[in-house]
Amino acid sequence: MTEPVVRVPRRDAERIRRQLADTDSLAHDRRILEEDGWVYLPVRPGIDRSLLPGEPIDRALPSMEPPPVRDYRELLAGWSADDRALLPRSYDVIGEIALIRLPPGLAARGAEVGEALRRFVPGVRRVGADYGVHGPARRRRVEPLAGSGPWRTRYRENGIEFEVDVEQAYFSPRLAREHARVAGRVRPGERVYDLCCGVGPFAMTIARDGRAAAITAVDSNPAAIALLRASRARYPWAERIEPREASVERFSESAPPVERVILNLPHEGIKYVPRVATLVTSGGELQYYEVVDRGTADRRPAELVATLAGSGRWSVRERHVVHPYSPGADLIAFTLVREEA
Ligand SMILES: C[S@@+](CC[C@H](N)C(=O)[O-])C[C@H]1O[C@@H](n2cnc3c(N)ncnc32)[C@H](O)[C@@H]1O
Repeated sequence: MTEPVVRVPRRDAERIRRQLADTDSLAHDRRILEEDGWVYLPVRPGIDRSLLPGEPIDRALPSMEPPPVRDYRELLAGWSADDRALLPRSYDVIGEIALIRLPPGLAARGAEVGEALRRFVPGVRRVGADYGVHGPARRRRVEPLAGSGPWRTRYRENGIEFEVDVEQAYFSPRLAREHARVAGRVRPGERVYDLCCGVGPFAMTIARDGRAAAITAVDSNPAAIALLRASRARYPWAERIEPREASVERFSESAPPVERVILNLPHEGIKYVPRVATLVTSGGELQYYEVVDRGTADRRPAELVATLAGSGRWSVRERHVVHPYSPGADLIAFTLVREEA
């Protein structure tokens, strides 16, 4: 398609380009072209040609590429910059599902936000508003915003594909490094209990690494155990995992002690710690997780050791922040060791 253009010799091109820009006559949707010593400057349609510098002609020029979209919020047409700024920059992507924490004031416009995210993130089929995890099963409350299909998806973490249902069973994409770190501590021949295993990322990562002799993965949410069974069925090396639908209380009544126990129930796990400590052999480790207020973090290791005193001598071998949990608290990983008798 031809559109108005001014043709000028190359030596005059910059002077005339500025003149056109100063009079708001330059078109910004087509590229400036240089050819055989001439420069072609695109001008806006409807401009009075008699007032233009240079030689006005009609010809086709390549169109400008739109700038790449770098943030899903740029896709929210008609939103003010202030409203956009209220939206979080980050969101979680779990397989084909994207989850975003919507500020309360913008819940009514959630469908537009969902649609923007669905278009922006490659491979996303459905977008939900994330209202956090609740109740003993730590299930996530999710409201649909855009897209369709089930909340169940596959998610690749540390090279393993997990069956995940973002609504039916706990899963967080923010624990990947922790799953790999704990798996890395496992010594050849260890027996492992993964208590409160969710869909089993600790158990699966440990099984894949291949050093553990046996792994029992325990959770009281039947949906979590069903998802773990589905992931496990796809990998021959996962056979050494025994998934168990049971509460920590019931499981710990009859389970023999093993070299490594993981207890990842960060808000309530402390009430099981004395009982779970009896499941760790002498010299074994308890990987324990807790949300800790920053103000009390320094004294927490000593408090934990005191809580464990009923079952042998314990020390804290290592602790670190897994991620911030709230403005005043962190999720902390503790590696507690039952000292040799
Ligand atoms: C924070 S999630 C753990 C997730 C998992 N370890 C991971 O890394 O993804 C806590 C899990 O504990 C389970 N749970 C809560 N109370 C329990 C109990 N008393 N006995 C067994 N499982 C429990 C919940 O169903 C939930 O799956």
